[in-house]
Amino acid sequence: MKLIFLGAPGAGKGTQAEAVCAHLNIPAISTGNMIREALKSGTEMGLKAKSYMDSGALVPDEVVIGIVKDRIAQPDCANGFVLDGFPRTIPQAEALDNMGVKIDRVIALEVSDDKIVKRMSGRRVCESCGASYHLLYNPPKVEEKCDKCGGTLVQRKDDLPETVKARLKVYHEQTEPLKGYYKRQGKLYTVDGQEDVADTTKLTLQAIEA
Ligand code: AP5
Repeated sequence: MKLIFLGAPGAGKGTQAEAVCAHLNIPAISTGNMIREALKSGTEMGLKAKSYMDSGALVPDEVVIGIVKDRIAQPDCANGFVLDGFPRTIPQAEALDNMGVKIDRVIALEVSDDKIVKRMSGRRVCESCGASYHLLYNPPKVEEKCDKCGGTLVQRKDDLPETVKARLKVYHEQTEPLKGYYKRQGKLYTVDGQEDVADTTKLTLQAIEA
């Protein structure tokens, strides 16, 4: 199954992608995580992307389109994948269509802006594997340590309240129009992402299996 998870920053795309990928045994492809990895490794692309990410802006389309094209050509994507955070603009969605990729469903996670700002302050991510936690809603078993790899949990620079507001603005202007794009293709499934993680996962799985 080939799925896209759409939603505002902090709507729970990464959290839901992880649950669905474990359920379907397919890889999650997070462009945000891939760009952060490139930055950590000091590649030219990563360094170029830094200023965009830190300010809450989108990285240029041609950069992300290239990354995704290479990634989905890998053998582990043959039976499907979840795209988490891509596409984020109409040109990115058109590029995906032009690659001949047949997306089965697009899951749009709906969470209010107020709730997003509150959620982001409690998010912590593993600096080694990128897994995402929340101090209140999804805490790690051991404080400040990743359950999966034992890595250290840190706060993302772009989770500061002012940057989150900038990211929300970008989302409403550039990414939200994708809902109409995929609705016209008959692929859009809306999921209420305001419930707790377990309930949201139930709703997400229902949307995939309906
Ligand atoms: P990216 O890393 O993709 O960030 P994002 O879309 O802004 O999304 P997040 O990772 O912040 O949130 P999420 O929806 O995955 O939520 P999560 O599950 O972690 O992108 C970062 C940057 O990279 C962009 O700003 C841009 O610069 C660049 N970029 C990436 N892709 C790009 C593209 N295609 N084009 C151009 N630029 C691109 O959950 C959030 C928190 O809430 C966590 O703490 C979690 O534990 C908690 N939580 C989750 N679900 C629930 C729930 N149901 N109840 C309570 N808490 C919950």
